[in-house]
Amino acid sequence: MTMTPSSPSPALPDELAARLDGIELPDPLGFSRLMAPVMSVAYYRDGAWETPRLTGLDPLPLAPHTQALHYGQAIFEGMKAYRNLGDDLDAPTLLFRPYEHARRFNRSAARLGMPELDEQVFVTALEELVGTLERLVPSRQGQSLYLRPTMFGATADLSVVPSTEFCFLICATPSDAFFTTPISAWIERHYSRAGAGGTGNVKAAGNYAASFAAAAPLRENGFHQLLWLDAVEHRYVEEFTAMNVFTRRGDVLVTPPLSDTILAGITRDSLLALGPSFGLKMEERPIDIHELTDAVAAGEDVEVFGCGTGAVVAPVELLGDETGLRLPLPDRSVALDLRGRLLDIQHGISAAPDGWQWPVTALPDGPRA
Ligand SMILES: Cc1ncc(COP(=O)(O)O)c(C=O)c1O
Repeated sequence: MTMTPSSPSPALPDELAARLDGIELPDPLGFSRLMAPVMSVAYYRDGAWETPRLTGLDPLPLAPHTQALHYGQAIFEGMKAYRNLGDDLDAPTLLFRPYEHARRFNRSAARLGMPELDEQVFVTALEELVGTLERLVPSRQGQSLYLRPTMFGATADLSVVPSTEFCFLICATPSDAFFTTPISAWIERHYSRAGAGGTGNVKAAGNYAASFAAAAPLRENGFHQLLWLDAVEHRYVEEFTAMNVFTRRGDVLVTPPLSDTILAGITRDSLLALGPSFGLKMEERPIDIHELTDAVAAGEDVEVFGCGTGAVVAPVELLGDETGLRLPLPDRSVALDLRGRLLDIQHGISAAPDGWQWPVTALPDGPRA
């Protein structure tokens, strides 16, 4: 993909500049502790999208019978802008693979009967917002400005039909690295995340609501992530709550093949591309949970890790379940190597394939740190 410079942005309106003036990053940053006071918003009306525009992060006017509240016509993306810590790219901030996120956003929209948004419009809105919020992009490796593009059905109508009006917005929050220590994963034996023909392969908001009850025992037992199995046999590993899954046995990395029950993670795709440069063989095939737990219990050379925008790569140190199974995983070396390389790419320290590092310059005449 060739890089096209973004068109010159207008100066930030005084009212928005005032909201950003003097704002400090919290310490610790955490996640969602400080919401950026500026967001990007566009409405879809009469069959067309408005151009997204910057506005304050204010409550939205929503009728109680707004369609998304009742029927869940809502989707989102999770993506990040990273401080450029390298020498080769001439911009303070880098978006990671924004066009891939734009394409997945549109796949989610299509699956939920929502209008697609031009990819270029999606990326330009991100550039404009990130350029404006440049001073809120934290500077330590692993930290980022987390970006949340969202679309929901905005028609006020209780009829069980798709909305005709939609709201698109992008809000942002400076974020610490997620999971800086290894995580524990709870094998979910009862509930299912996604069924064939459902919405598991897109980022429908309801997918996440449906995981909350299942996550209660996980929290009671001090675990971090659910490890979902397939809905038919409860035998094949699918993914974590918000991450794809990889295992390593010897020099082979395995991840389940994409299907209509697994989200096509952009981090997963990135690791499939990077793995061979570490001398790893990559396989996309089903992972039988019994085979996996037997291998770990037998003390074989096995790693398990999750990957996603939030966590980047999260090594698993413990697998458990409701039967009392507790299996420690001592080795996390390959997961940590992959995490290091991916973070170096995201921060512009290592070279990457075209389109992975998307330079964003600060908004001209916008507020400066
Ligand atoms: C269910 C689910 N699987 C996998 C992922 C990882 O996807 P990505 O690497 O694109 O963030 C996410 C996060 O977006 C997710 O919510």
